[in-house]
Amino acid sequence: MRDKIGVAIVGYGYWGPNLLRNFSENRSCRVVLVCDRRPQRLSAAQARHPGLPMTVQFDEILQNPAVDAVALATPVSTHFLLGKRVLESGRHVLIEKPMAMSPAQAQTLLSLSLRKRKTLLPGHTFLYSPPVRRVSKFIRGGTLGRVYTMDFSRVNLGLFQPDVNVLWDLASHDVAIALSWLGRLPSSVRAQARTFVRKGIEEVGHIWMDFPNRVWVHIHSSWLAPVKLRRVSVVGSKKMLVYDDTESVEKVKIYNEGVLKNPKSFGEFQLTYRTGDILSPKIDASEPLSLEVADFLDCVRTGRKPRCSAEFGLRVVRVLDAAQRSMRKGGAPVKL
Ligand SMILES: NC(=O)c1ccc[n+]([C@@H]2O[C@H](COP(=O)([O-])OP(=O)(O)OC[C@H]3O[C@@H](n4cnc5c(N)ncnc54)[C@H](O)[C@@H]3O)[C@@H](O)[C@H]2O)c1
Repeated sequence: MRDKIGVAIVGYGYWGPNLLRNFSENRSCRVVLVCDRRPQRLSAAQARHPGLPMTVQFDEILQNPAVDAVALATPVSTHFLLGKRVLESGRHVLIEKPMAMSPAQAQTLLSLSLRKRKTLLPGHTFLYSPPVRRVSKFIRGGTLGRVYTMDFSRVNLGLFQPDVNVLWDLASHDVAIALSWLGRLPSSVRAQARTFVRKGIEEVGHIWMDFPNRVWVHIHSSWLAPVKLRRVSVVGSKKMLVYDDTESVEKVKIYNEGVLKNPKSFGEFQLTYRTGDILSPKIDASEPLSLEVADFLDCVRTGRKPRCSAEFGLRVVRVLDAAQRSMRKGGAPVKL
């Protein structure tokens, strides 16, 4: 392996500039090429990164011997074919979330990365988010007691995606967060979604997931909302928690609140509501994407498995696929 890992970025739309900035700032790599099939996007990249080689031809990346690894920030419908070609060429790949449009596609990419012994990191950036990791510790460490529910809201106006609905776009973040916090797949998934502005690509949707340990998770996703919400509340038997990613500080608050069941007489209970202090832990403010990029590059160098593994990416796709199937059946439960 050469001194600095040679990286190419494909897709310079909304998210690609963040990947390019983070790879450019990481000292263990060198960005050797940026690719977007729209020349005007390359002009925008050129303005910010003068002198960086650019191309509209994806094939140029596969022909360039200086490219060791590729980061794909192209639309979801392109992930499978482009990712497959990168892996087949013997290169490492970071594929933006969700890594593919079906479990079969995701499984093919996973198997290919294993066969070629190349890193495949699906870009579920929230797995690297310090507040998400802190909440994970609270949940897994038992601070909240037995978790009853998780309620996610990820709504705002736009950005409408051309190829996938709001569940594959916005809810993919919350599915990833919930799976990482609970460490397992749900036993069943239900979903409903609707179109209002365009035809055929749902803009507002809900997913409900039932987990084997009786945790009930709800996700609300929308491209049609007047305010931006990025919030989840987690209700446990001992404490409750709110994680609001739109807050600049105090993103996580733990409420020492709950309901107690006091036996009144045999078979009868009296409920008492307990309220106490609100605690907001100090949380590291590192940018999640810089941690994700650093993990990817370290895995490329060492061959170890990334924090966000291809197996995890496949699990997210399995849940989204189940949600899609449930949606088609009017919200009927789909078992996993
Ligand atoms: N991790 C995150 O937090 C996060 C946030 C936003 C978006 N994303 C993901 O990033 C990906 C891109 O989303 P976006 O909102 O930036 O989309 P976008 O449409 O704004 O940008 C995609 C770019 O890819 C280019 N492109 C398409 N096909 C190409 C090809 N074959 N070769 C070269 N260039 C090609 C397009 O011209 C466009 O500029 C999606 O998978 C999305 O889910 C991730």
